[in-house]
Amino acid sequence: MAEDLIIATGNKEEKYKNLLPQIKGLLEGEKNLFANLANITAALKEQFNFFWVGFYLVDENELVLGPFQGPVACTRIKKGRGVCGTSWEKNETIIVPDVETFPGHIACSSLSKSEIVLPVYHTNNCIGVLDIDSDSYNSFDSIDATYLRTILDLLN
Ligand code: SME
Repeated sequence: MAEDLIIATGNKEEKYKNLLPQIKGLLEGEKNLFANLANITAALKEQFNFFWVGFYLVDENELVLGPFQGPVACTRIKKGRGVCGTSWEKNETIIVPDVETFPGHIACSSLSKSEIVLPVYHTNNCIGVLDIDSDSYNSFDSIDATYLRTILDLLN
């Protein structure tokens, strides 16, 4: 079966609106969580060409690197550390317009300038976070938060 993604042009909202049903289609009929996480990262990378997009998954009291697209990254993040560990601990979406202003930010790459991190739920448990990094400042806003939440809720 062909799985080619149709890439939208236009503004951010138009891109998410085009992407959402395609991600739904990719996830439908596939129960394997890792396969679905992997395809979500690939679809987001392909549409938006984010610098880094990936999942960190709960492993006892830490997050461990899961499926991602982009440069190699740190593998383990402690609860409450960095943007990812803070999002997990507080169970909330965090938008960081300039990573240097976030206390304790973990710089996996010096090229990362802004990021968004959202908790991910499966069968109503938080199983980790989605982390998206941009090489520009101020890349993320409430549009990203809303659409990414909708995408991630497909996993619940
Ligand atoms: N910057 C993240 C760490 C993960 S990497 O950027 C891929 C953080 O502060 O949690």
